[in-house]
Amino acid sequence: MTTGVTHVRHPDAQCGIVGGMSTTHTAIGYTANLPATDPESLVVRDVDTAQPGPRDLLVDVRAVSVNPVDRKLRTGAPADGFRVLGFDAAGVVRAVGAEVSLFAPGDEVFYAGTIDRPGTNQRFHLVDERIVGPKPASISFADAASLPLTAITAWETLFDRFRLTEDSTGTLLVVGATGGVGSILLQLAEALLPGVRVIATASDAERQAWVRDLGARTPSTTTETCRPRCSTWPPAAWTGSSPPIPRGRSRRTRPSCGPSARSSPSTTARGTSSR
Ligand SMILES: NC(=O)c1ccc[n+]([C@@H]2O[C@H](COP(=O)([O-])OP(=O)(O)OC[C@H]3O[C@@H](n4cnc5c(N)ncnc54)[C@H](OP(=O)(O)O)[C@@H]3O)[C@@H](O)[C@H]2O)c1
Repeated sequence: MTTGVTHVRHPDAQCGIVGGMSTTHTAIGYTANLPATDPESLVVRDVDTAQPGPRDLLVDVRAVSVNPVDRKLRTGAPADGFRVLGFDAAGVVRAVGAEVSLFAPGDEVFYAGTIDRPGTNQRFHLVDERIVGPKPASISFADAASLPLTAITAWETLFDRFRLTEDSTGTLLVVGATGGVGSILLQLAEALLPGVRVIATASDAERQAWVRDLGARTPSTTTETCRPRCSTWPPAAWTGSSPPIPRGRSRRTRPSCGPSARSSPSTTARGTSSR
C-alpha cells in the first residue's frame, strides 16, 4: 500500500486536538485513474475526522485488506475530486453514535464497508454498526481484515444464491479457488457442506496442493484439481445464472481423483476448456 504513495496536504484540512482526538487524520485515496506505477496513483491526505451519525461507530482502523473492487473503483473519476479507497477493515471502536446499541468504545470489530461512504484506508473510519461484527479474539487485526468481503461473498454464493444446506449433495465446481473468494468458499464447503463434492481449479502444482489441503480436513469432502482454466465465464455451454450442481450423489460414493473420476457424468469439469 505504501509503494507510489505521495503525501499531499489537503488544502481544507485543519489540524488540532479536541477531547484527546485529532480533528483530522490520514487517509489514502485517489484523485484520478492513473497507472499503479504512477507515484500519484495513490495519494495521502489529511481529512476531517467526522462525528458519528446515530448508528455509526468511529473505528480506529488497525488493518485493512485490498480487494479487486478497490482496483475497479479506481477506474472511475472520484465525484468530489478525492476518494478514500478500501472496504475491509479491523479496528477498535473509539466513539459511537447516540443510537448505537450493539457496540461500545473499546470493542474490537471487523467489517466490509459500503460503496456509498468513504473507504476504510484511513486512520479513523465511520461505519454503521449494523454491518459490523465483533473481531474474533483468536486472530490478529491483519488476519481479521483479510476476511469480511471475501467471506461474505463466498457465504452469499453458497447459501443465499445457490441455497445449499448441510443436506445438499452433488458436485460444486469452484473456478478461481486459489483466490480470495474461492479459498474461503472451499473452507466453508469443507466445514458446512459434508455431502458436496468440491472440484477446484488451480493453475499450477503448488496451488493445486494448496486447494487440496483446504478441502482435505474431513473425509467427507474431496477436493480435486483440474488443469484447464476457463477462458470465459460463464461457459457458453451453461445456461442460467448459476452453475448446475448435479444432484442425487450419495455422500459416501465419491470417486477419487483421476481419469475415471473426471469422465464420469457427475464429475466432468463442465465449463472448463483447454487453454
Ligand atoms: N474479493 C472479494 O471480496 C470479491 C467480492 C465480490 C466479488 N468478487 C469478484 O470475484 C472474483 C474473484 O475475486 P478474488 O478476490 O477471489 O480474486 P483473486 O484473489 O485475484 O483470485 C482470482 C483467482 O482466479 C484464478 N484465475 C485467474 N484467471 C483465471 C482463468 N482465466 N480461469 C480460471 N481461473 C482463473 C486465479 O487462480 P489460478 O491462477 O490458480 O487459476 C486467481 O487465484 C473477481 O471477479 C472479483 O471481482 C470478489
